[in-house]
Amino acid sequence: MALPAVFNNLRLPVIASPMFIVSGPELVIAQCKAGVVGSFPALNAREKEGEPVQLEAWLKRITEELDRHNQENPDQPAAPFAVNQIVHRSNARLERDIEICMRWKVPIWITSLGARPELNEAAHAGGGIALHDVINNRFAKKAIEKGADGLIAVAAGAGGHAGAISPFALVQEIRSWFDGPLALSGSIANGKAILASQAMGADLAYIGSAFIATKEAHAVEPYKQMIVDGTSDDIVYSNYFTGVHGNYLKPSIAASGMDPDNLPSSDPTTMNFSDKGEKPKSWKEIWGSGQGIGAVDEVLSVGDYVAKLEREYREAQSELQRKIIADALESAS
Ligand SMILES: Cc1cc2nc3c(=O)[nH]c(=O)nc-3n(C[C@H](O)[C@H](O)[C@H](O)COP(=O)(O)O)c2cc1C
Repeated sequence: MALPAVFNNLRLPVIASPMFIVSGPELVIAQCKAGVVGSFPALNAREKEGEPVQLEAWLKRITEELDRHNQENPDQPAAPFAVNQIVHRSNARLERDIEICMRWKVPIWITSLGARPELNEAAHAGGGIALHDVINNRFAKKAIEKGADGLIAVAAGAGGHAGAISPFALVQEIRSWFDGPLALSGSIANGKAILASQAMGADLAYIGSAFIATKEAHAVEPYKQMIVDGTSDDIVYSNYFTGVHGNYLKPSIAASGMDPDNLPSSDPTTMNFSDKGEKPKSWKEIWGSGQGIGAVDEVLSVGDYVAKLEREYREAQSELQRKIIADALESAS
């Protein structure tokens, strides 16, 4: 099935995924200008009581800056942006945020945790599409039944609330019945991995952690440096901090006085996305990351990182083509 027109002008088949705290307007604008879909969780736009609504201000800024870019660069238009909605009973802002996103005609809606028909209808009402992120094939079927246009397969090794299923198994199972838009996530951080996700059957690569180590990310320098210094050995999969399993940087846990290799387990009912869902202060510096950060060697601007991804992706395509041609010649001789 052809991809929806919203993905027509991408420089690379990449969605830069939404990340709690890390993704703000500066990062999203840089990602879209660089030619990949930029995104942020609606919940990152927070205001204190009595202050103007931040989500409205962010959408205005993103829309206006991208419009200006498109007028000035008609041959290199920006990629579209996406807003992530956390569909969970503790998210008391959901109705308000849906209404704001409809008014701003958000082009791509990414829904996480709960699949609800009214969110997909809201996305469509503003001319947008809805992608739902899933960690298994059962949730994937449910999301499509409820009217999502496409899926994001969150495989093992992803940052944030990652799944535990191999990307090979997950994509193969979803592709056995679904031929619509499919993004794959989990440890994708270089051009070869983008091409590999397409070879497996996905349409788009969904990249998070690698963007933490960019100049525009809303993350403190030591966090960026930990991504640069880290490898998969430095990641632990635990449900201790939110009640749901996610991947975290071990050195950040150790710096908070805990043993990352001996964390107790927790309870999913403790998950809370409300403003009042205060975590212990010492957890503020427990940092999330997927396993793919061995591919990240330095903090770059988003523009430079996307240019590097593109170079690697084109090289990977040529290398594969050379192998295919060599194989064909050998079998013909
Ligand atoms: C620090 C961090 C915060 C995240 N926050 C969110 C979030 O608020 N909403 C969401 O849908 N996904 C969130 N994710 C998951 C990402 O959107 C994406 O699935 C994941 O980063 C992809 O795997 P990768 O990090 O290995 O590239 C987060 C990931 C990280 C690393």
